[in-house]
Amino acid sequence: MFHGLYALPDADTARADDLAARFALPRLSAPPADGYWLALGDTRLELVTAHGHGAVYADFVEGAARHRREHGGGSGQPVARAIGIKGGNRPSVVDATAGLGRDAFVLATLGCEVTLLERSPVAAALLDDALSRAAADPATAAIAARMRLVHADAADWLAALDPAVRPDVVYLDPMFPDTGKSAAAKKDMQAFQVVIGDDTDAGKLVAAARGAAKKRVVVKRPRLGVLLGNDKPSTQLVGKSTRFDLYTPSR
Ligand SMILES: C[S@@+](CC[C@H](N)C(=O)[O-])C[C@H]1O[C@@H](n2cnc3c(N)ncnc32)[C@H](O)[C@@H]1O
Repeated sequence: MFHGLYALPDADTARADDLAARFALPRLSAPPADGYWLALGDTRLELVTAHGHGAVYADFVEGAARHRREHGGGSGQPVARAIGIKGGNRPSVVDATAGLGRDAFVLATLGCEVTLLERSPVAAALLDDALSRAAADPATAAIAARMRLVHADAADWLAALDPAVRPDVVYLDPMFPDTGKSAAAKKDMQAFQVVIGDDTDAGKLVAAARGAAKKRVVVKRPRLGVLLGNDKPSTQLVGKSTRFDLYTPSR
């Protein structure tokens, strides 16, 4: 069970109040004895458990993001080819299932303007925190400036989109189970998966995305995963463990 937001003694309380208000997170006066909660420390926001292991946070400055930024495969990597990065072409992207923002960060690093849609208040707060840290670091500030977070349900947001500002690409990577049971998440992601749950309604996002994208819709799936929704993709890019299904716009 998810409880809310707890600010550690060394945390900035104004920041905690701001996060709680913007993402409708209950403020906790003490760490709970069980379940999951967001803990704000002096450096970052984390999703933690009572067992004290498996903290989950979003990060664009250090760790894997730094490695990807400095040694990533550039415009040749599969996600970049899937969204249509080629030569100097940098499509505008709506990442409609932003999660911890790892794919969005790769695309923004390559120069795309990315709007990140996230409906879970927990994931949205983690993203907001990672984006403010990235904005404050000279190595990532320009990348963070290309990433805009919107806390909203993508189905509603895409349906209400002003036709004058349609993105080139809508990107989807929901936690959509293949067999009714989720694949075992990596240990560090287990808390995230338990708190967010499966996106069993993800099928309807393909049609909403096809109505909004100007050039293409890209759906990330496990290599052997079932299709999302009823539409057939026009192209599939199949890698070792991941597949990208490409759909044409519907208008
Ligand atoms: C598998 S994660 C995405 C991981 C992401 N691609 C990354 O690189 O970190 C799926 C995320 O999509 C979000 N999501 C699912 N359906 C959504 C919807 N209709 N609107 C907004 N967010 C949604 C979930 O809350 C979850 O955080």
